[in-house]
Amino acid sequence: MAVLTGAGISAESGVPTFRGKGGLWRSYRSQDLATPEAFAANPSLVWEFYNWRRSLIAVVDCNPAHRALAQLETKVPHFTLISQNVDGLHLRAGSKNLLEIHGNIWKVRCTKCGSITANYTPDLGTSPHCHRCAGLLRPHVVWFGESLDYKLLQSAFDASRTCDVMLVIGTSAVVQPSASFPVEAKSRGAMVAEINLEPTPLSSLADMTIPGKVGDIVPRLVENWS
Ligand code: OAD
Repeated sequence: MAVLTGAGISAESGVPTFRGKGGLWRSYRSQDLATPEAFAANPSLVWEFYNWRRSLIAVVDCNPAHRALAQLETKVPHFTLISQNVDGLHLRAGSKNLLEIHGNIWKVRCTKCGSITANYTPDLGTSPHCHRCAGLLRPHVVWFGESLDYKLLQSAFDASRTCDVMLVIGTSAVVQPSASFPVEAKSRGAMVAEINLEPTPLSSLADMTIPGKVGDIVPRLVENWS
């Protein structure tokens, strides 16, 4: 089984989505701030934005949908969770075989030596530096225009191409390469089921679309999984 999640699975934890009403993009200039160019031009401003997002996420918790997926993983022989989310809530819920393909907002990466460390202090200040080499740190998340980690991407495509079932949960399915994972799964004969509040470009391709809130649907689906 492969599962692809997007911001919708964390919405009920209080983490704003990107494109929905009240989404991050509606109210904040994410596209201008989450880019290598913005960071090069004004790293302090970008850190202000990420410190704000870290402080938002620091006070929320995983919800029944996150926890249900962690439980489902124990019921299925081969399980891969591919998440576009950077909030770390799947890890907090106990998911093990997790591919955080857009990174993790709780990790920082040194722009000089490349070392990656987890740091759960919500506010890292506007110019945090590496303990090893004093290089400037950046959030270990994928920015617009950046490519994904090759190994993570390969693993995600492998899981998509070998699964029998793919659940696509809480994503608008418009961002690549994630939007291709269900297409790959379907082309290899997998059953694709979508769980979302509303239809997406994937809905016509999916074998099943289950309309509704992740917090209602995912726990019930896992309860009845045998
Ligand atoms: P979006 O904000 O684009 O889409 C969220 C999806 O979740 C929408 O289809 C909503 O209908 C659905 N949704 C919201 N609340 C829900 C709920 N309670 N139950 C069920 N469905 C719900 O977020 P993503 O699809 O994750 O990339 O966006 C993909 C990527 O776009 C993000 O990872 C981000 C952005 O560029 C990076 O940051 C690199």
